[in-house]
Amino acid sequence: MPLVEIHRLSKFFGGLAAVTELNLDVMQGEILGLIGPNGAGKTTVLNMVGGTIFPSRGKIIFNGEDITNFPPYRRAQRGIARVFQENLLFGNFTALENIRLGFHLHSRMGFAEKLFNRQSTRNKEKVWLGKAFQMLEYVGLVEHTATAAINLPHGKQRLLGLAIALATQPQLLLLDEPVSGMNAEEVEGMVALIKMLREKRGITCVVVEHNMRAVMGLCDRIAVLNFGEKIAEGLPRTIVESKAVVEAYLGTE
Ligand SMILES: Nc1ncnc2c1ncn2[C@@H]1O[C@H](COP(=O)(O)OP(=O)(O)OP(=O)(O)O)[C@@H](O)[C@H]1O
Ligand SMILES: [Mg+2]
Repeated sequence: MPLVEIHRLSKFFGGLAAVTELNLDVMQGEILGLIGPNGAGKTTVLNMVGGTIFPSRGKIIFNGEDITNFPPYRRAQRGIARVFQENLLFGNFTALENIRLGFHLHSRMGFAEKLFNRQSTRNKEKVWLGKAFQMLEYVGLVEHTATAAINLPHGKQRLLGLAIALATQPQLLLLDEPVSGMNAEEVEGMVALIKMLREKRGITCVVVEHNMRAVMGLCDRIAVLNFGEKIAEGLPRTIVESKAVVEAYLGTE
């Protein structure tokens, strides 16, 4: 059974069809690349799987359960985490605080729970502090624990974004352009890290990315979107040779 089953998914923004009748399966433990020209609908697909926008039509099944109408926090509870295209960080807070804040946003540990369940909250906090440290270590940011996010260089901010997502212990990681703005060395580091997440933790990944070197080095399988439609799907090698894909990127003369 696929981990994610996307059935005839469509999203319209007014008259614009951002995604049209998309059918796509994501297999357990795979790293699936989602590529396509600017405006093809890639981020919109991630938004619909992550739950930050709802589809106009179609269904999303996760682990056999229909999550199409779940809000993001319920998807987070089921094991879906998202790394955004822009670095969505709390700039003045430290790297460690960012991970804790991120977790609170996802888990919705509410005010009432804090008030009436102080003891368990305190225990949770302790557990989370430990986990947050672990995540920073994992992505190689442990020496920046106390650095304000805004003072981290871009590449490290991206790593912090990943650490925040990992803190929720996801089964499925949705990555939107994880290596954008990175230098060659940072790209290599991020690619190796994502591969390790799959090898060591069995995390399934959907990666939207324009950097073809990273895509080719990382993905088991690639799906190509163009104007909201899937125009190709297959092994990386066959995708780069596909005429439809080349035309989508270069245009037809
Ligand atoms: N909230 C929105 N309201 C209106 N139109 C939107 C909205 N979000 C996306 N779009 C439009 O939907 C289309 C798909 O956008 P999307 O961001 O999914 O593309 P993308 O493939 O991620 O592009 P890029 O590679 O540039 O990030 C675009 O035409 C975009 O302008
Ligand atoms: Mg995008």
